[in-house]
Amino acid sequence: MKDRILQYLEAVEATQVKDAAETEAFRIRFFGKKGILNDLFGDFKQVPGPEKKEIGLLLNQLKEKAQLRLESFQARHTGNSNQTRLDDLTLPVDFYTAGSRHPLSVVRNRILSIFSRIGFTVAEGPEIEDDWHNFSALNFAADHPARDMQDTFFIEKRPDSNDVLLRTHTSSVQVRVMETTQPPIRMIFPGRVFRNEAISARAHCIFHQVEGLYVDKNVSFVDLKQTLLYFAKEMFGEKTSIRLRPSYFPFTEPSAEMDINCPLCGGKGCNICKYTGWIEILGCGMIDPAVLDSCGIDSETHTGFAFGMGIERMTMGLYQIKDLRHFFENDLRFLRQFESAF
Ligand code: PHE
Repeated sequence: MKDRILQYLEAVEATQVKDAAETEAFRIRFFGKKGILNDLFGDFKQVPGPEKKEIGLLLNQLKEKAQLRLESFQARHTGNSNQTRLDDLTLPVDFYTAGSRHPLSVVRNRILSIFSRIGFTVAEGPEIEDDWHNFSALNFAADHPARDMQDTFFIEKRPDSNDVLLRTHTSSVQVRVMETTQPPIRMIFPGRVFRNEAISARAHCIFHQVEGLYVDKNVSFVDLKQTLLYFAKEMFGEKTSIRLRPSYFPFTEPSAEMDINCPLCGGKGCNICKYTGWIEILGCGMIDPAVLDSCGIDSETHTGFAFGMGIERMTMGLYQIKDLRHFFENDLRFLRQFESAF
């Protein structure tokens, strides 16, 4: 019975009417002799004692909601046909349920706004890429394992090897921007990326990244580190510290991975940080001079840094979400929990 009432509550909210006839149909459906409410109040007699309170409350809620909705329909469509809400401001307002932003959008927007405060502008690139922008220009050797069928969704094999594929990272946008823009470049690229992975609580074949790119004269590793420290503090709180671990990416040299001290346990160790006290947030490094050159930027005069982070991972940490699949299922019970997020 509870489920039935909940369904009707949603139906009341979702109903829209065009004219007096549809208003009347709504009235009969809910308030008619054989209407939904009479029916439910009839069934209510059979509800066992302990559940009466909860069901009764819901039932009254449904009745009130349907009543208000009916009054607002009637105000618009029946009686004085010229009367609109603008003529009579005392008429009840129509109800619109406000939507909520998807948690991944909430976190992406926060990332973009933090970087825009320090002068990064936003750009996007295509999700369907070619081998050059996704791999070759980024120094991936012809036999690099990341090109393997197991990771990359290929769309078309080309005789010249410039295969068409779904981009596996947003680093492809770095290439597109550097090919067409002369430094100084200070930009950030959000987007969807694709990898042929089995779907589980921790991995998906579609996920989201934000990539950062900074190219100018005299850009050094210190600039990279300060930029990332600023970001981490803005994102996770003033007390956050970062640690950079040496790593490897074909297109950056030196390369690093950045961890933050776990915002949930403050570094003491918990199941989110797997008892290490640290959470890995992003990959970064100084752009390899060979990459600058292949994109038409003189590596004798210019240097740059880049970084890339996964939005899902960060959102899971921020909101303690334990299963990545929630992001893609669009279950309203999950999404409604983010109504208050901006
Ligand atoms: N593209 C890398 C990845 O998807 C992340 C990265 C971006 C690393 C920029 C260094 C610089 O894992």
